[in-house]
Amino acid sequence: MSGFEARWLNLREPVDHAARDTDLRRMAIEHLVGKGEGVKVVDLGCGTGSTFRALLPESLRWHWLLLDNDPLLLAEARSRHGDAPVLETAETDLAALSPDLFAGADLVTASALFDLVSAGFVQRLAEQIQRYGAGLYAALNYDGTCQWGNRHPADADVVAAFNEDQRRDKGFGPALGPESGPFLKTALEAAGFRVSIKPSPWVFTPEHAELHRQFIEGMASAVAAMRSLDPLLLEDWRRHRLARAEHSSCTVGHWDVLALP
Ligand SMILES: C[S@@+](CC[C@H](N)C(=O)[O-])C[C@H]1O[C@@H](n2cnc3c(N)ncnc32)[C@H](O)[C@@H]1O
Repeated sequence: MSGFEARWLNLREPVDHAARDTDLRRMAIEHLVGKGEGVKVVDLGCGTGSTFRALLPESLRWHWLLLDNDPLLLAEARSRHGDAPVLETAETDLAALSPDLFAGADLVTASALFDLVSAGFVQRLAEQIQRYGAGLYAALNYDGTCQWGNRHPADADVVAAFNEDQRRDKGFGPALGPESGPFLKTALEAAGFRVSIKPSPWVFTPEHAELHRQFIEGMASAVAAMRSLDPLLLEDWRRHRLARAEHSSCTVGHWDVLALP
């Protein structure tokens, strides 16, 4: 089990979809449309199927293999799209990456996954998908930046401590965290892919207050566990940010990466 809840994934999905870089989304679709019939997509860390939905309606034309190690999220994906004959799910621990997973794949996709993985995972993946001639479309990799419309004196320290937490091992070895986007670009170029990288920031406005509040709570508890910040200052920051979640704008940086053979 991964600890990612469908409720959290549901909250972030509209913001994730709006954040995706439109050029890379279009280029990924055009790459697959150009391949004609029998196209296969493998989605890593699929959650409830957000990437499949982000590429609708074209995604209905391709065969999808959705992989996750959380059976509840896979069940949720099946319950939402059980009538779509193009979806197959498999409970899989990606940390033990098996090359067979990519047999016949035209594109490997992921969203909000690569900040959790290690450099070694990316290098193994790049070799494996290169061998099968597949591409990689990795969306929404956190880039280490959070900026609010109003300032709190602890903002920079909280974000720095949060970014340290992002580098903790999430089951794949030391996580790439904020370095994942640029690292993907370098590793995939070294493996011979043509790589494009574009920003895909979350932009919270008042209508995203609930997601904003949950993000603040998640940051505060991750930072508290790091024990590097004065707890009173952190609590003051948490209260300040929660009280303004309805009104303050907030931008959380991400990278989208598309690597084509
Ligand atoms: C942040 S969520 C993103 C989910 C989905 N791609 C989305 O955008 O809504 C990360 C996903 O990676 C999955 N995951 C984490 N570690 C994994 C592992 N070792 N093997 C397979 N899936 C994993 C989680 O279960 C979760 O669904």
